Amino acid sequence: MTKKLDLSKYGIKMWDAGTIAAFRRTLLAWYDEKKRDLPWRHTKDPYPIWISEIMLQQTQVQTVIPYYQRFLDWFPSIETLAHAPEDDLLKAWEGLGYYSRVRNIQAAAQQIMNDFAGRFPDTYEEILSLKGIGPYTAGAIASIAFDLPEPAVDGNIMRVMARLFEVDYDIGDPKNRKIFQALMEDLIDPVRPGDFNQALMDLGTDIEAAKNPRPDESPVRAFCAAYLHGTYDKYPIKLPKKKPRPLQIQAFILQNQAGEFLLEKKTEDRLLGGFWSFPIMETNFIGQQLDLLENNNQVLETVSKKTIFEQTYKLSPTWSKQHFAPVKHTFSHQKWTIEILEGFVDEIQLPSDKELVWSKPADFERYPMATPQKKMIAEYLQKDIGKH
Ligand code: ADE
Repeated sequence: MTKKLDLSKYGIKMWDAGTIAAFRRTLLAWYDEKKRDLPWRHTKDPYPIWISEIMLQQTQVQTVIPYYQRFLDWFPSIETLAHAPEDDLLKAWEGLGYYSRVRNIQAAAQQIMNDFAGRFPDTYEEILSLKGIGPYTAGAIASIAFDLPEPAVDGNIMRVMARLFEVDYDIGDPKNRKIFQALMEDLIDPVRPGDFNQALMDLGTDIEAAKNPRPDESPVRAFCAAYLHGTYDKYPIKLPKKKPRPLQIQAFILQNQAGEFLLEKKTEDRLLGGFWSFPIMETNFIGQQLDLLENNNQVLETVSKKTIFEQTYKLSPTWSKQHFAPVKHTFSHQKWTIEILEGFVDEIQLPSDKELVWSKPADFERYPMATPQKKMIAEYLQKDIGKH
């Protein structure tokens, strides 16, 4: 066990035992009356609970529900998940983003098959040892599926705690997480820890939301220091985050005489590995290939981009003059602006050092595609309809 954090060093005074007991009672009574009826709340099976918790990171409940149901239809057990083909996995996750999450889910399923004889582990430390499971998810699964008194500290819970105790530390800074973890360790209900965590999640996504909270309706307003002291608007402390880095991307939309389009599977790429898209290159990369750029800001000529494409893909397209609007897509750390070039080719032969296929738009369904590719298709079809 790690040593318990001394909350007084952070200017926080924990309540006495009677107040803690009253808080638990009040919060759980509210949850019993008002809790949201969500599909993963009808089970104690750690497998679906785990899947729901991973999906719910970065994605809203209403979006998650159909993905959750389909995922469990397709992969009804940890074993089927461990053996699922990559394309099926990515298809199941298509549109949810942060695709490393679903790869980690499969790696963890394989870990469970190999190291835990196919049974989901039932201690916090073992759950935490699974790929892609951090302290939040481990706490959520341990408390909801196994009734272990483990906090599940996410943004919602930090926000509620920050208001309850007027915590003067930035909730966006990972090193402050331990403060909220310590608060929750004191508060969590030892008999119903899963419900306690989920009650705070419900409170944090609605009445105590980040935007337009309704503090007067909070069932625990009588415990809330910020509410009682008129400092509610000051909490939580959240300092501005770094902006995503802008990246210029060049896309090449190539069509052959059969009306098929060139698609490439990105194998190595960390962000989009496993997904198919029109060939794309980072504009800086093209610049480096040409030894042209002295700094990253120099504008590359369209002619040079075409040359690099032709050398890399060993194709000689006839390039069209059609103009396409730049396609924009923001990931958590990168903001892409994608320029589109359109070309037509006679060649059927493709270089063998890449994973490339020719596909008709009607068959695009077969290839997992991430959101930037879908946006490119939409822009392309809008401009191109009926032209060829
Ligand atoms: N967000 C993350 N986990 C959740 C859960 N179990 N219920 C509701 N919202 C959540």
